[in-house]
Amino acid sequence: YAKEAGLKYFGAATDSPGFRERAGYEAQYPKYDQIMWKSDEFGQTTPTNGQKWLFTEPQQGVFNYTEGNIVTSLAKKHGKYLRCHALVWHSQLAPWVEAKTDWTKDELRAVIVNHVTRVAKAWKGQCYAWDVVNEALEEDGSYRKSVFYNVLGEEYIKLAFATAAKVDPKAKLYYNDYNLEWPHAKTEGTQRIVKMLQKAKIRIDGVGLQAHLIAEQAPTLDQHIDAIKGFTKLGVEVALTELDIRLQVPATATNLAQQKEAYKNAVGACVQVKGCIGVTIWDFYDPFSWVPYVFPGEGAPLLWFEDWSKHPAYYGVQEAL
Ligand code: XIL
Repeated sequence: YAKEAGLKYFGAATDSPGFRERAGYEAQYPKYDQIMWKSDEFGQTTPTNGQKWLFTEPQQGVFNYTEGNIVTSLAKKHGKYLRCHALVWHSQLAPWVEAKTDWTKDELRAVIVNHVTRVAKAWKGQCYAWDVVNEALEEDGSYRKSVFYNVLGEEYIKLAFATAAKVDPKAKLYYNDYNLEWPHAKTEGTQRIVKMLQKAKIRIDGVGLQAHLIAEQAPTLDQHIDAIKGFTKLGVEVALTELDIRLQVPATATNLAQQKEAYKNAVGACVQVKGCIGVTIWDFYDPFSWVPYVFPGEGAPLLWFEDWSKHPAYYGVQEAL
């Protein structure tokens, strides 16, 4: 359906089994793996955790690709597009980067160049896209005061993209963030980043809209479309990279209907705007979602319930395609 609708892929992020949010589902892995890898529900995946700094360079200069490789090698084996995530991010960062409070500019530049070079090289040629910089902005469009920004200012973004471009010329290079699904200060901040890179002649190919949405107050179809067009008009592509739509638990007929509508609008907007190339949901099975751990009282944000039945939203997605 997604391909016929003109998308490159409709995918689901997944984690290596040992990392999944909720333990105790071993018996159900065959069912999970059947849907994730062996069915044609998904044409793409993203490792939810394994490629992050905390796991890939836990100590300075000590690199480890084991966790990331679990998912990326399955993607290869089963012929799924791969989105790679995320090279430079303030969260799930290795503690050694933040522990040192007196980085000089030159030292931190070298740290970024080394990290991006080594990690991008490890998966060179395998990633359809890389999230090069993740979540650099505050809600008001100003820069987040991460260790990277505090030491280097916006130069760190240029450095990360320029380095990734050199190492993996075929991967599409993305800026990725949340709350970019309706036009406001943060979408404008993101446009500023795109223009800054373009002006410096540094390659940026795409903007990733994470799309961690709320069923009861999701953007309308038109808001989605306007936000996406705000990026495609700059000449970059767009993808929904981490779509999930949480609701107040328990799930009821009412909030599930709202969720269905919200999924339909998010996916439908991507289908309707040329330049929005694909959609990734942030896992597909509710018990493996990050949502209940981070947003108490909210949950059931994905397309399969705990008992493996499908959400009404599954059919909302189908209607959008
Ligand atoms: C989340 C993962 O799903 C969790 O397993 C982990 O504990 C925290 O990170 N924005 C991102 C993702 O870019 O990497 C985050 O993933 C969700 C928010």
